[in-house]
Amino acid sequence: MKKIVGLAIILVIAAAVSPAFAGDTAAGKEKAIVCAGCHGAAGISANPMWPNLAGQKAGYLAAQIKHFRDGKRINAMMNNMVKTLSDEDADNLAAYYSGL
Ligand code: HEC
Repeated sequence: MKKIVGLAIILVIAAAVSPAFAGDTAAGKEKAIVCAGCHGAAGISANPMWPNLAGQKAGYLAAQIKHFRDGKRINAMMNNMVKTLSDEDADNLAAYYSGL
């Protein structure tokens, strides 16, 4: 019983200290090279038709990338750009852009 309580406490502490959203920013930065042409080198787009990504919430960005990839959100440019990305890639890209 003590062991179970101890384990439960450890899990609660682990959940509290780990961020709700964990992407690898450095890996995201590497993947973002191909995105910069439209979304800007620092996530700020020069074209009014292309949205800024810098500072956007990571959870939102990751969801949109996955939606484009899975065809839940349709945009010819974006559907093509992200079709080979994994969930991990999407999370990493989201972490990178949200931190800019
Ligand atoms: C050829 C230009 C182009 C490239 C390259 C591009 N995007 Fe986009 N992106 C767009 C356009 C245009 C939109 C707006 C789509 C729409 O209207 O739904 C968009 C939208 C997005 C959105 C949604 C933003 C929001 O506010 O909802 C995300 C996230 C995104 N792009 C991420 C990426 C990532 C990550 C890459 C690189 C893997 C990338 N884009 C590469 C043109 C591009």
